[in-house]
Amino acid sequence: MPSVKTDDALTFRHPSIADGAAIWQLVINAGTLDQNSSYLYLLLCRDFADCCAVAERDGQLQGFVTGFRSFKRPDVWFVWQVGVAPSARGQGLAKRLTHFVLRAQASQGVCYLETTVTASNSASRALFSGIAKRLGAELLESELFNAELFPESGHESEPLLRIGPFEAETVKQSLLIE
Ligand SMILES: CC(C)(COP(=O)(O)OP(=O)(O)OC[C@H]1O[C@@H](n2cnc3c(N)ncnc32)[C@H](O)[C@@H]1OP(=O)(O)O)[C@@H](O)C(=O)NCCC(=O)NCCS
Repeated sequence: MPSVKTDDALTFRHPSIADGAAIWQLVINAGTLDQNSSYLYLLLCRDFADCCAVAERDGQLQGFVTGFRSFKRPDVWFVWQVGVAPSARGQGLAKRLTHFVLRAQASQGVCYLETTVTASNSASRALFSGIAKRLGAELLESELFNAELFPESGHESEPLLRIGPFEAETVKQSLLIE
């Protein structure tokens, strides 16, 4: 999908490998996200760019969403991490980043969005329940990665949120950017 420039001077686009380092840094700055190797973000930007997006203002990264599509379940876009710079929160960036990718994915056969969200992450829960509402789609929550599966102590359970099914046309109509 081509990049989109909004009235508030944000550009939404799919990432290239040149964005990997800044995404990795934003993950660290976001505070609450699991930190992964910088290599992983380079790989995502190379091989799953269509399932990821960045938002920038004046060339500075303000937010990102990363995800992938598994060949085993091609109708699902799995959202892995969403992060917005603390100074840019509350302006609809996460919502618009998600819609940017979702529109492209829905036109290619995706009709479900899946993600995991801890019980304590109310901002993330609000983000995904708002998206389900806007799409008029069901949001189901079920157990997935329970706390005891994580090797580090103190990791919260990560239940699965599944939104859908939705139609490509519905996603297009519900767009927040353009
Ligand atoms: C979660 C996060 C990505 C939200 O980014 P954001 O750009 O501020 O979110 P948006 O402005 O697009 O808001 C989306 C919805 O969530 C709601 N929301 C956002 N932050 C909220 C908060 N702290 N508490 C309650 N609701 C919140 C908004 O009101 C909006 O609701 P609406 O759809 O009904 O209008 C951001 O807070 C963040 O980067 N947090 C740290 C990283 C993280 O936890 N990521 C999620 C797990 S992968």
